[in-house]
Amino acid sequence: MQFYLDTGNIDEIRELADWGVVEGVTTNPSLLAKEKDRGDYRALLAEICEVVRGPVSAEVIAEDAEGMVEQARSLVKISSHIVIKIPCVPEGLKATSILFEDGVHVNMTLIFSPLQALIAANAGASYVSPFVGRLDDIGHEGIEEVVKMREIFDVYGIDTEIIFASTRHPEHVLQAALIGADICTMPARVFRQMVAHPLTDIGLKRFLDDWGKTGFEI
Ligand code: G3P
Repeated sequence: MQFYLDTGNIDEIRELADWGVVEGVTTNPSLLAKEKDRGDYRALLAEICEVVRGPVSAEVIAEDAEGMVEQARSLVKISSHIVIKIPCVPEGLKATSILFEDGVHVNMTLIFSPLQALIAANAGASYVSPFVGRLDDIGHEGIEEVVKMREIFDVYGIDTEIIFASTRHPEHVLQAALIGADICTMPARVFRQMVAHPLTDIGLKRFLDDWGKTGFEI
């Protein structure tokens, strides 16, 4: 399973990209709005693409298919790494099928059910983004919906990739990996939590203390 960062913050992206395990970035209008003081969002997206050199999702804000296609065609000019995020609504499906013909990669977003994922794949989406945390927030078992998506895609040999999104904690990342999500996108906070373990810190301290007593150098 690949790890993506779900943020528009270039400092976080730079920090975690240095770990060598960030294979892509997902943004959305809310995440980019948080970075508005950085200035031009296009320059920011270009910088993110330079740092990550993997798929970087940027979302359209038009509500009709024609507008979505126009915005998508403009966004893909920023970098060959740009993937277009389009919401799973009828106009979004229409736009996705047009963009599919153009060879533009679409990440269909705001997906909450397996049938939305299936129809997005049939429209030509390269990725689907089920928002698991938001389903959990309203009392559903979000992961159950992703399990069904995985099953349907496997039954039909659909190669659209599942991006487990709206990831709130490391347990979500574990769930994503166990059920075979292709990608898990998460905030930097979850990335850091995922690596941290108190026994690792205690163990490292003990190793260093013991070695320190020898006076040897490496
Ligand atoms: O990638 C989707 C994500 O940004 C949504 O996350 O935490 O706003 O539900 P959240």
